[in-house]
Amino acid sequence: MRYRGNILVLTAPTIVALWFSYAFAFSYLVGEAGRFGIYLPRRQWLTIHILAGGVTLLLGPAQLWLGLNRRTAILHRVLGLLYVMGVAAGATAAFYLAFHTDFGWLVGLGLGSMAFAWIVTTALATIAICRGLVQQHREWMIRSYVVTFGFVTFRVLTFAFEFVRGKTLVERMAAASWLAWSIPLFVTETVLQGRKVFEKKRSSAVPQQEKHGDSAAPELTAFGLQNSESTYLRQP
Ligand code: HEM
Repeated sequence: MRYRGNILVLTAPTIVALWFSYAFAFSYLVGEAGRFGIYLPRRQWLTIHILAGGVTLLLGPAQLWLGLNRRTAILHRVLGLLYVMGVAAGATAAFYLAFHTDFGWLVGLGLGSMAFAWIVTTALATIAICRGLVQQHREWMIRSYVVTFGFVTFRVLTFAFEFVRGKTLVERMAAASWLAWSIPLFVTETVLQGRKVFEKKRSSAVPQQEKHGDSAAPELTAFGLQNSESTYLRQP
């Protein structure tokens, strides 16, 4: 049941990611010389950004599915490395593009902050798994992908704001550049932490361990690992 739920939850972003890439991103990579429009002076950066961003956008759901269902660990690691490299390249180019945007400092700051959040969430997901913190890795990967998806949300919001009267294009883009990632991250955090607040209290495993003087118990609680099926926990 949970398996089917995961498929349903991850199919939706995959379809939207494919549609976004086809409709808005790949047209920059093929076609006429003038296809870059206002991005002509920084076309190399945009090309790197689209290729790297496209890879992360499409790899994200596959990675989350492989990770959540504990499938083919080697494939998960290889694709994970590709995802991290994609974020590193995509975010570096995003910083350059944000710094040189034609739409003003507020848009640049909003998208630059999104690039920063992209790096921080992905770095913490990577550090967590290197330290064997599986539950933390899952949560930070979900946050990372929510930010990756932020550029799709940004596009959707800029279209939606066209229906708000009396606002200039720059104002609409500035609002979208901040809301596109902050609101989805807030919703994600509410779900991730809310589930912990409302989940049923576990059996008395922790007091039992404390009774026997096992010093590992408080550490597990602190890292949120007590609910994970990490191999880390199965070590003698
Ligand atoms: C999630 C972090 C991302 C950040 C911070 C970011 C940032 C930026 C910035 C600053 C620009 C230039 C905006 C301008 O000056 O008009 C841009 C353009 C663009 N980005 Fe990203 N981006 C991200 C993810 C992605 C992803 C995953 C894709 C998917 C391929 C993508 C595709 C594009 C495209 C196609 C453009 C050209 C402008 C357009 O047609 O909307 N970006 N991005």
